Amino acid sequence: MDSFGRKIDYLRISVTDRCNERCLYCMPEGYKGWEQQAEHLTAEEILRVARVAAELGFRKFRLTGGEPLVRRDLPDIIRALAAIPGVEHIGISTNGTRLAALAQPLRAAGLDTVNVSLDSLDPAVYKRITGGDVGAVMAGIRAARAAGFERVKLNCVLMRGVNETDLWPLALFAAEHGTPLRLIELMPLTRTDVLTEKNFFTVSQAMHLLGQKDELIAQPNRQLGFGPAKYYQLRHTGALVGFIGAMTNPHFCETCNKMRLTADGKIRPCLGDHGEIDLRTMLRATRDDAALRAVFAAALQQKPQEHQFRARYQPCRPMTAIGG
Ligand code: 5AD
Ligand code: SF4
Repeated sequence: MDSFGRKIDYLRISVTDRCNERCLYCMPEGYKGWEQQAEHLTAEEILRVARVAAELGFRKFRLTGGEPLVRRDLPDIIRALAAIPGVEHIGISTNGTRLAALAQPLRAAGLDTVNVSLDSLDPAVYKRITGGDVGAVMAGIRAARAAGFERVKLNCVLMRGVNETDLWPLALFAAEHGTPLRLIELMPLTRTDVLTEKNFFTVSQAMHLLGQKDELIAQPNRQLGFGPAKYYQLRHTGALVGFIGAMTNPHFCETCNKMRLTADGKIRPCLGDHGEIDLRTMLRATRDDAALRAVFAAALQQKPQEHQFRARYQPCRPMTAIGG
């Protein structure tokens, strides 16, 4: 429990700050802040942290990046993570470009669910946002569906004038493939100039837009995974759409259940707060897990009540370096 009475049992582990895409909202143009290999936690170090976290009561784990699939030992990490007592669920957040080849091995290793970023189905729009090839992502989503994951969800970051006309096609795609679609408000995670009045698009605007095409039926009891999305079902198409109002919902943080571990071994109690607690030094200095538990406990005490995104927050590390 944190100091605001929230049960924190969800750890998001970034396994690398590297990525094979260049999303507008995640990585500043020409980003040069890459960490050195030696700064990244090794697989053994990640698993040791996960073991300590599980002892402390963490039950749900998500592997993120950067792009987690650029790490070649990811299937090994998942296999070992799944064997840790107390680990009940393992998910990944991926851009999907390398899923076609990896979905099956990851499923076999014990991965439960997959979240794929998909901001547009239009190859040109997709390329403009991410620099990549939407065809590879489509193949990845198909492979993930075929591999039999418990759930494959789609993540779309809302950007006015960039992908608002893509929302309806994405909803149809979600219905057709049985993949819930989550629409996420843009957060200031690269440079503030990426988040302006001009490109910010709220979840209520997105709801209104979809409401012109189909009827949205609230699913107040629907929990797909462990995050803050509020789900609706479209009456005619059947699509399940989750809305993540990180910026406009004043109650967003009240049910927060997570902390993050960055690829370079810092505990980040909140995505939208600069506070970080170094765990790597302790990891490399001692074999004593009690010391690691103490760092976790201190991080939990430092978890803020809410994010600072509404308070002129200036990201000092971009999303790619923190972990999605
Ligand atoms: N604002 C909102 N969502 C973001 N994501 C990445 N950067 C941002 C941002 N600036 C989302 C992507 C990805 C997930 C891990 O985080 O949709 O799928
Ligand atoms: Fe890569 Fe995901 Fe960041 Fe896009 S959002 S640059 S795919 S880590």
